[in-house]
Amino acid sequence: TATQVFVKNPACVGMTYDDLIVMPGHIGFGVGDVDVSSMLTKNIKLEAPFVSSPMDTVTEHKMAITMALQGGIGIIHSNMGPEQQAAEVTRVKKYKNGFILDPVCLSPESTLKDILILKEKLKFSSFPVTDTGKMGGKLLGIISGRDSAFIEDVSVKVSEFMTVRSDLTCAHEGDSLDEANLILKKSKKGKLPVVNDNEELVGLVARADIQKNTENPLASKDSVNKQLLCGASIGTRPDDKIRAGLLAAAGVNVIVVDSSQGDSLYQIEMIKYLKATHPEVDVIGGNVVTPSQAHSLIKAGADGLRVGMGIGSICTTQEVCAVGRAQASAVYHVSKYAAKFGIPVIADGGIKSTGHITKALLLGAGCVMMGSMLAGTDEAPGEYFYQDGVRLKRYRGMGSIEAMKDGGEKRYVWDTACTQVKVAQGVSGSVTDKGTLLRYIPYLMQGIRHGLQDAGIKSVTTGRERLYNGKLRFEIRSPAAQKEGGVHGLHSYQKRLY
Ligand code: XMP
Repeated sequence: TATQVFVKNPACVGMTYDDLIVMPGHIGFGVGDVDVSSMLTKNIKLEAPFVSSPMDTVTEHKMAITMALQGGIGIIHSNMGPEQQAAEVTRVKKYKNGFILDPVCLSPESTLKDILILKEKLKFSSFPVTDTGKMGGKLLGIISGRDSAFIEDVSVKVSEFMTVRSDLTCAHEGDSLDEANLILKKSKKGKLPVVNDNEELVGLVARADIQKNTENPLASKDSVNKQLLCGASIGTRPDDKIRAGLLAAAGVNVIVVDSSQGDSLYQIEMIKYLKATHPEVDVIGGNVVTPSQAHSLIKAGADGLRVGMGIGSICTTQEVCAVGRAQASAVYHVSKYAAKFGIPVIADGGIKSTGHITKALLLGAGCVMMGSMLAGTDEAPGEYFYQDGVRLKRYRGMGSIEAMKDGGEKRYVWDTACTQVKVAQGVSGSVTDKGTLLRYIPYLMQGIRHGLQDAGIKSVTTGRERLYNGKLRFEIRSPAAQKEGGVHGLHSYQKRLY
């Protein structure tokens, strides 16, 4: 049992995910019946227990939107100005809440050439036309792909070929999303402008968004206004309080206080401040790896904890600072302690496979946070490039010299007094192309469903009960057993994930 592995462990050996294997259980249910929903914080439940890491090569709005659409959540990194980070949060919050509140507009003087440039850049082809050329101007018409398709002279003005206001069906400011959807369905158009009493454009509803709505039944949304959930990270320096204010104003749901060693007076003070000033926002503290560190942050008011130190794929903290803990041990001990207070734990870093995710959940974690697993997807920031014929994306530790130069240092140095000498705690590298999250997240979900089913566990919650009542059995794998558990004895093989 976990108690035998972790507590009655006379040699005080730290365990990693690879050191352990879960004993199979009885399968009395289908794989589709396995419930992988789990808690992120005291107040937030996710249908998919996945969190993307607040790193500048992992999570910006595109990643956060797609993570939330798939039932997880993204934490926007803070290696950018506070206003820019808040704008990233806004992009997530405004996404697919039905109404596009900042549609790109044209003026009647714009030309077909302007439309072609916008189309190329934005990959969509419908634009409302207002007298000011901006949102909030008087609605004069709309340009759709069809309106511009048959015109050859690129200097022709929009006013000459747009569908004019009198031929348009519009929704009125204050109409609910359901009402707007109904009008859109009846009008059989792709876009529905929303106007106020003064005929000014105040929003747009897109048919494509309604389709996205129905295609993402697991999407993580807040219950009040049905916007996607979004997280963001901050540091623990005094000016991070201003950053937190901007993030809260943008509607962020979770703030992650991002420190490599979270049990500090700086973080405790920050958590207390956040809970007192922005009670509507959940706060995740960390990182911690021991119950006593966890105790400090729970006492300060953290709604969730992030667990992991020096075990991420790009981390050199254990090598440089000699401090940290093997991840399976950290997850088990902190989760068990935090469970007494009803505080969920995020197992952060070191995840290399769906097996690792299943182990993290069975060791008591509510969710897993991933960096390298997600950095090679289409939704991660940055462009793909080729090296030796392999398609790659850049991925770097926030404690790498490169990321620290851009501001990542605050995760590792909390007091600003002594930063002349920079000590890297991470490296910079690349990861292979994984394609889109829209396929990768369902693959991860199905992988952990298979894992839980093999263990005879129907939900993350029952897994936790079995863990703590001693009914879930683990074995420690010898080095030979670990070798045996991987692919072996082949001359060569191909590994396709899905
Ligand atoms: P994975 O293994 O998923 O790990 O790539 C991501 C997690 O690693 C942490 N992180 C770092 N740790 N030096 C460190 O010691 C670094 O430069 C660094 N950058 C990120 C972080 O917790 C992240 O979620």
